[in-house]
Order: sequence, then C-alpha cells, then structure tokens
Amino acid sequence: MTEPKATSSGPADKAAVGQSEALRRRWDERYRGATAAPEPAAVLRHWAHLLPSTGSALDLACGLGGNALWLAKRGLEVCAWDLSSVAIGQLRTTANRLELPVAAEVRDVTIRPPEPQSFDLICVAHFLDRDLVPNIAAALKPGGLLFYQTFTREAASDRGPSNPAFRLAPNELLTLFGDLIVRSYREEGRLADPASGLGDLAMMLAEKPT
Ligand SMILES: C[S@@+](CC[C@H](N)C(=O)[O-])C[C@H]1O[C@@H](n2cnc3c(N)ncnc32)[C@H](O)[C@@H]1O
Repeated sequence: MTEPKATSSGPADKAAVGQSEALRRRWDERYRGATAAPEPAAVLRHWAHLLPSTGSALDLACGLGGNALWLAKRGLEVCAWDLSSVAIGQLRTTANRLELPVAAEVRDVTIRPPEPQSFDLICVAHFLDRDLVPNIAAALKPGGLLFYQTFTREAASDRGPSNPAFRLAPNELLTLFGDLIVRSYREEGRLADPASGLGDLAMMLAEKPT
C-alpha cells in the first residue's frame, strides 16, 4: 500500500490533512442519499472502440463510480479512488450487486497519488488538480491510455464548478499533458450543438509513449 507523500507530521502536513478532511466532509454531504451511479463519461463512450479489452484501470476521483463500473463491465481490472467515504461505500454496494470487480478505495489522491507505471488506463472525469498532472502521466504504463474529461471556462450551461480555477482554459488539457501522444481531442465550446451537452467540456484520449 502506498504511504502518504508527506511522512513527517509538521504543520504543513497537518494543514494538508485538515484541508483533506474539510473537503471530504463537503463531498460526503453531496453524496449522502445518492443511489444510482452516473452514466459513464462521454470521453469513454466516444472513444470506446479504442479501449483495451484487458489490463488495469484507475478511475481517479471516481465519485459514485459510473466510469469504474463501465470499465469493469468491459473486462478491465478496475481501481476506483475517491476521498469521499460515502461515495466509495455506495460504489462498493453497486459493484457487489452487479458482481463487478471494482477495488474501491477511500483515498485522497493529492496526498497519495498513484504510483509510477501502475496502470494501463486512467480515467479522470470532472476533476482538475493541475499539481497532480505529472503523477497521472507517470502512473501510466508505457503505451497506457489516459481518458480525461472536465469542464472548460467557456461554458454552455451552469454545470460544474463556479470557480474558474477549477475549469480548463482553451486547449489547456493539450498543454497540461504535453508529454503524452494525443490520439483524440474534442473541445467545441460555443460551437457545440446545445443538444450534445459537450459545450462545457474538453475531452482527450492520449497515449503514453512506449
Ligand atoms: C465532480 S465529482 C466527479 C466524480 C466522478 N469522476 C464523475 O465524473 O462522476 C469530483 C470528485 O472528486 C473527488 N475529489 C476531490 N478532491 C479529491 C482528492 N483530493 N482525492 C480524491 N478524490 C477527490 C470528490 O470527492 C468528488 O467525488
């Protein structure tokens, strides 16, 4: 099991743990009473034909695990991490009911990011922590695939975080993961068909060089 990045117990570490606790409580509150897992993210559905049929996958900041369940149904061995114990509890219940192999874990990924070269596929949906980008790229095995989708500042609706710091600038996803090979990218912004629901989103499928 990975240890937290911070190993001392100085004031900075205590502050990080305190922030993590406060964030966890907020998300727990949001998930309390939720039952159904959301539909899989568009980034997975759009490029489903490029998914590997076997291997290890991580749904990072998985929430109720709509993506984790979908990936497990397709034969991948899935880990799903989120700091909300409520969300992880719900996901475990759903995975058990559907008899799907999802290793769901309560984990603050900023304190305990994934280990280098540990996954064939990583999916991140509706979560953005720019400091974690190098860890995410490093956590892919050579030839591994990153499916990433999150909100853009150019917004077609009021979905997603109101703080622009948690939304992507135009083309930002491309630059954040500049060391990966971009295989597909979509960011239609105000040109998107309103019915598509894609006007708020950037999505990218990228491969780690072998
Ligand atoms: C908008 S939700 C997205 C959930 C899911 N990926 C989806 O698309 O349905 C953002 C998720 O990030 C999780 N989260 C936020 N900060 C986190 C952290 N530091 N470590 C792990 N999970 C975190 C929250 O608990 C929440 O479930």
